[in-house]
Amino acid sequence: MTLLVTGGAGFIGSNFVLDWLARHDEPIVNLDRLTYAGNLENLAALRDDARHVFVQGDIGDRALLDSLLAEHQPRAIVNFAAESHVDRSIHGPEDFIQTNVVGTFRLLEATRSYWAALAPNAREAFRFLHVSTDEVYGTLAPDAAPFTEQHATEPNSPYSASKAASDHLVRAWHHTYGLPVITTNCSNNYGPYHFPEKLIPLVIVNALAGRALPVYGDGMQVRDWLYVKDHCSAIRRVLEAGRLGEVYNVGGWNEKPNIEIVRTICGLLDELRPRADGGRYDELITYVTDRPGHDRRYAIDARKIERDLGWRPAESFETGIRKTVAWYLDNADWVTRVQDGSYREWVGKHYGASA
Ligand code: NAD
Ligand code: DAU
Repeated sequence: MTLLVTGGAGFIGSNFVLDWLARHDEPIVNLDRLTYAGNLENLAALRDDARHVFVQGDIGDRALLDSLLAEHQPRAIVNFAAESHVDRSIHGPEDFIQTNVVGTFRLLEATRSYWAALAPNAREAFRFLHVSTDEVYGTLAPDAAPFTEQHATEPNSPYSASKAASDHLVRAWHHTYGLPVITTNCSNNYGPYHFPEKLIPLVIVNALAGRALPVYGDGMQVRDWLYVKDHCSAIRRVLEAGRLGEVYNVGGWNEKPNIEIVRTICGLLDELRPRADGGRYDELITYVTDRPGHDRRYAIDARKIERDLGWRPAESFETGIRKTVAWYLDNADWVTRVQDGSYREWVGKHYGASA
């Protein structure tokens, strides 16, 4: 029994791999292209662990996919690999189309060939779990009900449009070819190993460095936050018990305006690492030009996964954000290596020929 995980050196993928191998002995083959967002240092604890096989490669590389599937015979695939940052998608959408749309297509096609040739029992048990986002549903009015799985797909950014396209491909491969797929659409994650281009880690590392804390527009855009390890537990549960062809929304019922998130982080830092000059961190808040096409509000209705699969998050926002701030305070070296770019040398230095 083996899992093939794609994008397992990124933020959520690396948390998933670490949590999985802390719970199971079932090995993981981790296929990751190691874009700027992939950081093998996140998986340093698994360096000498034979249960983790890292392969640097692209989900769009059909020949590589065919050989990996033939060699490792996974019983499931969990697809995290994607370009994930909305701002980058606005500046340069091409990579998002290549990985999120074309890459997912190639992965589906390779999986279909592999799955069709499996013995009946293995074919029956096989799963393709596609990890997606609430952003595919578009934006919500202030008083609208949270997104259910029935909500129309109305993506507004190049990133969310590319993810919605991938979700549609996954759905179609189930309906047309019978591929045993399940899709999860999750709200905003935060926690350890979050790349400091995204709001929460950016605010923590900028505050600690005494830099401005950039808040887009009026800061009243609402996101629904989930601690990353709760997302990982939801994926494990869906893999275990999710119904084929279904979509599961994943969220923590934690809607907050961005400015409140930034002020909460500032307050925690005031408590845990007071500024040397006696000032308060929220003095660093700086309102900047808004993101073009900025979605105003996301909120996830997570009742289906709660009702059908019995999943619930373990962390509240208050406990999760405190853990997250503490993690960044305890892992200043990780932040330094991400910021100076030396994390990209980790493959050669620490994995050598196996990577
Ligand atoms: P991330 O950007 O931190 O990591 C993405 C990983 O995929 C990186 O390790 C990168 O090297 C790898 N990758 C990129 N292109 C690849 C390719 N062509 N082939 C193989 N590997 C490739 O992203 P994340 O925040 O960990 O998100 C993981 C998944 O979860 C994405 O599909 C994203 O859309 C989805 N998601 C993210 C959030 C969130 O809040 N971060 C919420 C819901 C869903
Ligand atoms: O909703 C799930 C999505 O959440 C995932 O699918 C994406 O992969 C993930 O990146 C995230 O997208 P967002 O655009 O919501 O995340 P980001 O951290 O970039 O921004 C969160 C909010 O904070 C958003 O309203 C924009 C705002 N923001 C962001 C940054 C980086 C700021 O105000 N200032 C900033 O500097």
